[in-house]
Amino acid sequence: EKAGYKHFMLKEIHEQSQAIIDTFRSAVDLNRGEIRLDDLNLDGKGVAGIRKICLIACGTSYHACMVGKYMIENMCRIPVEVDLGSEFRYRGPLLGQDTLLVVISQSGETADTRAALQEGLEKGAVCRAIVNVVGSSLVRMAGGVIYTHAGPEIGVASTKAFTAQLVALYLFGLYFAVASGRLDRQELSAYIQELIELPRKVSDILARSEELSGLARRFMNCRDFLYLGRGILYPIALEGALKLKEISYIHAEGYAAGEMKHGPIALIDEQMPVVVLMQKGPLFEKMLSNVQEVKARGGQVIALVEGKADERIGPPENRFLIPESSPWLAPVLFTVPLQLLAYQIAVLRGTDVDQPRNLAKSVTVE
Ligand code: M6R
Repeated sequence: EKAGYKHFMLKEIHEQSQAIIDTFRSAVDLNRGEIRLDDLNLDGKGVAGIRKICLIACGTSYHACMVGKYMIENMCRIPVEVDLGSEFRYRGPLLGQDTLLVVISQSGETADTRAALQEGLEKGAVCRAIVNVVGSSLVRMAGGVIYTHAGPEIGVASTKAFTAQLVALYLFGLYFAVASGRLDRQELSAYIQELIELPRKVSDILARSEELSGLARRFMNCRDFLYLGRGILYPIALEGALKLKEISYIHAEGYAAGEMKHGPIALIDEQMPVVVLMQKGPLFEKMLSNVQEVKARGGQVIALVEGKADERIGPPENRFLIPESSPWLAPVLFTVPLQLLAYQIAVLRGTDVDQPRNLAKSVTVE
């Protein structure tokens, strides 16, 4: 059932190109150049009545919400709030009929996410869900759904469900942007093209897994890791750190790179690997100055770099190159090597990768 893989997690990491295809296949109508989200149950009139979107989830799915905020606010020019399921109902959220509340969950059963959705229903918000498991509680509660077609995810550490969630959010952003007149046909077809090219880029990264094994061996005994990202890759820094801590039990923290000077820089010394996520574009030079700051304090930089290698970043053995893509899809591509790195380190440390201690696949109690 592991199809020759040593762990479900590794199998599921490798299933990501297919999960992405399966998630967008039914939504992308290539002949008409349209995005169709039939199960979402939100037509043009419904979209026109929305003034604010709330994205809510727990754990890894929460990181997808954070990425979703960057995507949707930019594509649709509508305010997006992001909340943890466990916090939402306790902050007295301002909701009404013009609020679209979207919960995101692999299992569709997470207790705090359900409670957040219940809060939305009680306050009259328009409630929808992005879910992997067909017929789960969240699907039954929400007025419509976008399914991530990732297939069953057995490993406790979420991998393919997460990248499929990012694709579902991309589809949702495009759909909403078209419905609200923010995106014309030509722009839409360029965005769709980027999506169609994504699975091959994911496969390219997977085929290069071995490039990470030297890093895994060098850093497997470190006590702490820092992950830094900016913009849409900030949530991916959080996700990379979560993957590592869940399965390897190494303490890891994700930070917005601009926050480094405001505290975590105090931790940096020769023992501290710092994983930097370097997206091409306006934030690249800013990340580069983070790299220089880390090096100046003797820290060890592990750089994921989109596009071409840049000599200023450090020696090739500390770099992993990420294929270029649209800024909204780069989070998918940066996630894959972070999953692989966490996986390889955990295997070297001999932990129970698929069933890490103290964790449950689905957290159905508060
Ligand atoms: O099933 P859900 O997506 O609602 O689960 C949410 C979290 O419990 C889940 O993402 C958890 O953080 C994973 N162990 C992350 O790998």
